[in-house]
Amino acid sequence: MLSREEFIIISLEINLFFQRIMKEHLFFIETSLQPVEADKIAEANALKRSFEHLLSETVSYANGVISEGAIRSNEFVTPFTLRAEEIASMLTGAGIDTNITRAEMELTGISRYGRELNLEDAVADLNARSLNLLEDVIAFQKKLIDIVLRCKILIPLYPLLLEHITREAEYYQETLESLQKRRLPKKSLCDELNFWNNIMGEHAEFIDGLLDPTEKNLKKTANQLANVFERLVKECAKATDRQIIMNSLDATESVQNYKRTATIGLLECKIRSIISPLLGDHVLREANHYLRILNLMRR
Ligand SMILES: [Fe+2]
Ligand SMILES: [Fe+2]
Repeated sequence: MLSREEFIIISLEINLFFQRIMKEHLFFIETSLQPVEADKIAEANALKRSFEHLLSETVSYANGVISEGAIRSNEFVTPFTLRAEEIASMLTGAGIDTNITRAEMELTGISRYGRELNLEDAVADLNARSLNLLEDVIAFQKKLIDIVLRCKILIPLYPLLLEHITREAEYYQETLESLQKRRLPKKSLCDELNFWNNIMGEHAEFIDGLLDPTEKNLKKTANQLANVFERLVKECAKATDRQIIMNSLDATESVQNYKRTATIGLLECKIRSIISPLLGDHVLREANHYLRILNLMRR
């Protein structure tokens, strides 16, 4: 059982990370749909807006309550997030509430110790509303996958990418469901590591597939990283806990560096690709989040 304080802090940190991730998935869908899909564009936009509202509420509760370590990990915002959002919004015409990002850049860690105890009901309610919205988002994305696989829609997002973001939504959903019961999700070490190692490996594959064919070096490194994560997933069952955690940590630090360099290159328009800088920053934050999990596991 989680203490009241653990419930509040872990819930806020999970929501801060995933609510932004969810609204960005919806932004990517919204800006990839063709004009003929006006109803789906509107649906993606409305779902994105709903997650933005929840996120701005989470930010207001989180200030002075969440851990310093979570803030320092750069999993909520990075030094590149705001600029990436400004570019993404300007070049697509789709809205992004950058005030939330500005507020997140000012977040501070635990300072009003004790006061957060009043937040239990508010946080439980926030979790419940996130769960409701998640149900709609998962249904929307599954419907999209279905019509993509039946070739009834043209969308420049890989089917695997749509499945990938839906898996992330389901992971968030499972986590919230456990937290509402004042527990952490029950998962074996390999279940947890394989989830994230798969995610990291797929990021490398997506980047490889979205880079211009002339970007040989970047593509080669992406391909090597994808292979490393694929191997980690295969090896988990056979390796010792310590071994697999340390190897995952090494690989994730490599992919974090690669994504940081790529995001900077995209922002500076020095890479030929069809990758939005916001997608670069998005996958960088996911690596940052996983690194924080791994560092907690290592202890
Ligand atoms: Fe994602
Ligand atoms: Fe991802």
